[in-house]
Amino acid sequence: CGIVGYLGTSNAPPLLLSGLKHLEYRGYDSAGMAVIGANGLEIRRCVGRVSALEDLVHQQPISGSLGIAHTRWASHGKPSEENAHPHVDQARKIALVHNGIIENHAALRTCLSEKGVQFSSETDTEVLAQLIGCYYAQSGKLVCSVREALKMVQGTFGIAVICEDEPQTLIAARQGSPLLVGMVEHGEYLVASDPAALAGRAPQAVFLKDGEMAIVTPAGIELSTIDAEPVGVTFEAIDQTLERIELGRFEHYMQKEIHEQPESLRMTLSGRVDSRTANITLGGLTNFERQLSHFKRVLLFGCGSAWHAGLIGEYLIEELAELPTEVQYSSELRYRNPLIEEGTLAIAISQSGETADTLAALHEVRTRGATVLGIVNNVGSTIARETDAGVYLHVGPEIGVASTKAFLGQVTVLSMLAVYLGRRKHLSRDTISTFLSELERIPEAIEQTLLLESQMREIAYKFSGRQNWLYLGRGINYPTALEGALKLKEVSYIHAEGLPAAEMKHGPIAMIDEGMPVVVIATRDVTYQKILSNMEEVRSRGGEVIAIVNQPDAQIERLAKNVVVVPRTQPMLSPLVASVPLQLLAYHAALSRGLDVDKPRNLAKSVTVE
Ligand code: G6P
Repeated sequence: CGIVGYLGTSNAPPLLLSGLKHLEYRGYDSAGMAVIGANGLEIRRCVGRVSALEDLVHQQPISGSLGIAHTRWASHGKPSEENAHPHVDQARKIALVHNGIIENHAALRTCLSEKGVQFSSETDTEVLAQLIGCYYAQSGKLVCSVREALKMVQGTFGIAVICEDEPQTLIAARQGSPLLVGMVEHGEYLVASDPAALAGRAPQAVFLKDGEMAIVTPAGIELSTIDAEPVGVTFEAIDQTLERIELGRFEHYMQKEIHEQPESLRMTLSGRVDSRTANITLGGLTNFERQLSHFKRVLLFGCGSAWHAGLIGEYLIEELAELPTEVQYSSELRYRNPLIEEGTLAIAISQSGETADTLAALHEVRTRGATVLGIVNNVGSTIARETDAGVYLHVGPEIGVASTKAFLGQVTVLSMLAVYLGRRKHLSRDTISTFLSELERIPEAIEQTLLLESQMREIAYKFSGRQNWLYLGRGINYPTALEGALKLKEVSYIHAEGLPAAEMKHGPIAMIDEGMPVVVIATRDVTYQKILSNMEEVRSRGGEVIAIVNQPDAQIERLAKNVVVVPRTQPMLSPLVASVPLQLLAYHAALSRGLDVDKPRNLAKSVTVE
């Protein structure tokens, strides 16, 4: 979900809408805004995207220079107008937008109902709005009422609150869900759950920490803990510009981000890799250098595409750094008994740096004594702040919900990290130098791969009517197969399963029927001959192979009707190239089905609930 708030002298609705558009990737089931102006508190809410809210505000205008707005990804209560934020108290004086989950909402709801409060939605957020309203009805003091209510709630929140009686006050508070207050100029402020909403408007912002509350008035920002202990205000520069997140010549962010990958990865590698001197410089780990040689094992964790990047990282680190490596889903890690031996280096992988499951896993492994590094894209995000050290992706903002350039950025960072760890062990200077020069060539190899777009488009249109696909890979390209299948599922809603190719014969082969599309990653490495046998197994059952290869031969031509030839790379780096046609395939499959690739149904770019 995404939050925007505005206090200043301009009319709030257009500024709130523009901020929300930059946050839509955080969820887009429903949207709403509350504004305080000449007519008091006015609210507009609707099911659907920010553009639907824009239409509504156009038809039923509201104005005022204080407002809050929200774009939602439903967790409690279905996407409906009643469940959309902002929520108000019974007296309709206080309006609130909220990210996170109030865990004790049911108990609070019962308690408030007993006092005669009538609820109009199923959400946990309304409970908080009503609770603040109850305190306010007794005391008439807004700030104190918010503090009192927040002390009662358990769970996570990032909130923005306004009150009809105080048209010059905007309150923001945070516990486990990010929030910042940007200064447009003195007397004009924007509150947001993500720096993207401030892009091009507020050059600097105050990032709230957990347990903090900001009271924003025309006089400035007053920061304190929720318990009213004063906190100093520190501004940080916002690293986002409007131009960097605009579409340019592309139709969709997903397409733009796929095409940006050569440039993005150049930024990831820039100043960090030098094949001539066999050197890797990772600025974020400088203070950490001496500790690194003490680590005996690595634990990688993340969700979705970040977890897939971790699986590729496992191959890279075991091969190049010779450290036993384990990869876990963040959401599973916390609920087992993760045995953190001494010398465990835990690494959280997250594009957004805000994924609640990954943050919770980070806390768990830290409590158990692990040192935690972050591989994060979003500079200044919660995971980046909470890790002991880390390496940023530097691929620029990723807006498309299906991860593309961030995934490749994660794999690139893991490749660098594997060498970085390995060079203090067995890796020779020559091996490092060769590997790094191959890595430096990857952006160019991706540039060539992007030329395959029309071929991938053709294949996508040919097969997008088929509801079941398989993706097969072996070794380091098994995770590539998983990621390819995930891309297709996310944006085209076609069912796809990724498998280690040899596992197919232990069950999934039963699904293969005439014409079933089976994408096989068959780039050259030690598994090549074996994967040809797997292709034969598919073909002899009528499946139609789409082969991603980097050195075609007669056998491939015989086994696959659709052969996609990508440039040759060092085998360990082949996922960086082989993933690209799979991204294009998913993108065009979604388009051929007339779907919204940048905002697939039911998904959110950043899932900030566990
Ligand atoms: C969501 C997104 C996925 C992403 C995952 C992890 O589910 O839809 O594309 O891979 O979260 O996100 P993160 O920001 O932690 O990398």
